[in-house]
Amino acid sequence: MSHLSRDIETALALLPEHRKKSKRSFVLTLDDILDDYRLGLELNANAFDLCMHAYRFHHPFEAFWAQFRSKSVKPKEIRDLMLMGFAALLSRNQAPVEAVVDTFVNTTKKVFGAHTAGLTNAFLREVARSRDRLRAQLSAHPEEMLGPVLAARWDRPIARSTETLAAAMGRALLVRPPATIGALGIDGAWSEMKSAHFLRQEEPRIAIDFSSVGFVRWLVPQLKGRPLGRVLDACAAPGGKIIAFALQPELRDVMASTELYATEAKFKRLTRLEQNLAKMSVRAKTALHSWGEGSPPPPALAEPFDLILADLPCTGLGTLASKPDLLLEDPAELLSSVANLQVNILRDLVGRVAPGGSLAVSLCSNDPEELERVTVELGRLLPDKKLEFWTFCGDNEGRTSQWMAAWLVRL
Ligand SMILES: C[S@@+](CC[C@H](N)C(=O)[O-])C[C@H]1O[C@@H](n2cnc3c(N)ncnc32)[C@H](O)[C@@H]1O
Repeated sequence: MSHLSRDIETALALLPEHRKKSKRSFVLTLDDILDDYRLGLELNANAFDLCMHAYRFHHPFEAFWAQFRSKSVKPKEIRDLMLMGFAALLSRNQAPVEAVVDTFVNTTKKVFGAHTAGLTNAFLREVARSRDRLRAQLSAHPEEMLGPVLAARWDRPIARSTETLAAAMGRALLVRPPATIGALGIDGAWSEMKSAHFLRQEEPRIAIDFSSVGFVRWLVPQLKGRPLGRVLDACAAPGGKIIAFALQPELRDVMASTELYATEAKFKRLTRLEQNLAKMSVRAKTALHSWGEGSPPPPALAEPFDLILADLPCTGLGTLASKPDLLLEDPAELLSSVANLQVNILRDLVGRVAPGGSLAVSLCSNDPEELERVTVELGRLLPDKKLEFWTFCGDNEGRTSQWMAAWLVRL
C-alpha cells in the first residue's frame, strides 16, 4: 500500500483545507489545479480518484464528522485526510478495509505527526463499522450527497423520470466514473477509450465529453441549408465544441469555405484552445476578447456572423460529477456570479448575427433557475423569434453525470 500512501499525500494538497492555506490555489478552480498537476505529470489516476471522491463525499462526511466530534481539530488540514479516508472507505468496494485504514493512519503520522494517529484511527474505524449503513442510507437518499441547500433547490421532478433532480444528481456522484476518456478523433468520430490508450496519442485526439458531442449532433442538422460563411465560437476554450463542430463529417464540404473564428476571455485558456485547434488541424482565427464587457472586438470580429456559438460561462452545476468542488459553493452565489455576465454576453452577441444567420447558446447546467433566466433573456432580446430548446442529461451509457442545455434561434 506504499503507492496508496504516496497518492494520499499528493491528493491532500488539492483538498479544501490545504487549498485555503495556499492562497494561490484557492482562487483557482479545482479543474485549473488538476490541469497543472496533469501537465506536470504529478497526478496519477489513483491520486486523481482519491481527490475527486473526497470532494464528492464532502456533505456526507460533514454530517458524519459532526456526530463524531464536536471540538475542532488542529491543524485543520487533518480534516482533509479524514475526508479522503471517509470517501475512500465508502467508494472503494475492492480495497480491504483494514489495509486502507492502516495506510491512512501511517500517512497521518508522517504528514501531521505521531500524535494525530489516535484520532485518525478512531475516526476511520468508526467509518468502517458504519460503512454498510452509510452506503444503504446514501443509496436510498442520494440527494444527501448534495448537501441540504442544493438538495432543497433541486427537489423537483424531472421529465421522463420518477426521480427528483436532486436524487438524480446525487446518484451521479455515487456512481464510480468509468476508467475511460471520451475522445474525439480528427475524423470527427467520438469513442470511449482507456486512459492509457488515450495518453499514448498515436493519432491526434482531444478529450471531450459525450454531452458536447451530443450538442453538436443536435445542432448540425438544424443548420442544413443555412449560411455558414462566417462562424464564431465566442466562448471557445478549450475548444471541444468548435472542434467537434468543424470535424462533423456532414459539414466537411461546407467548412472548406467557412471562415472560422474562436474567441476566449482568459489568456491561459486561449493558449490551450490554440494548442487543441492545432493538434486537431482545425483552422480558426483566434483572439483574446471578452464579449459583453463594453470593449469593441478586433476589426476582423466586427462584421456580422452567419452562426454564433455562445457556450456561456455558467455555474457548471450540470457537471458536478467532474467538478465536485462546486459542492462546497453556495449555488445562489454561484448563480449570481455569472448572471450578469451571461446576460451581457447575450446582448452583445445577438446584434452580431447576420440576417438569416443563427445563434446557438449552451450551458453546462441543469439548474432550473439558471436555464429559465437564459430563456427569458433570449425571449426578451428576440421576442418574435422561435426558440428551439434541447437538454441532455447523461452520457451514451445513460449515466446522469453530464448535463447540458442549449437554445437555437434563427434570425
Ligand atoms: C463553458 S466554457 C467554454 C467551453 C468550450 N466551448 C468547449 O466546448 O470546450 C466558457 C468559456 O468562456 C470564457 N469566457 C468567460 N467570459 C467570457 C467573455 N466575456 N467572453 C468570452 N469568453 C468568456 C471562459 O473563460 C471559458 O473558457
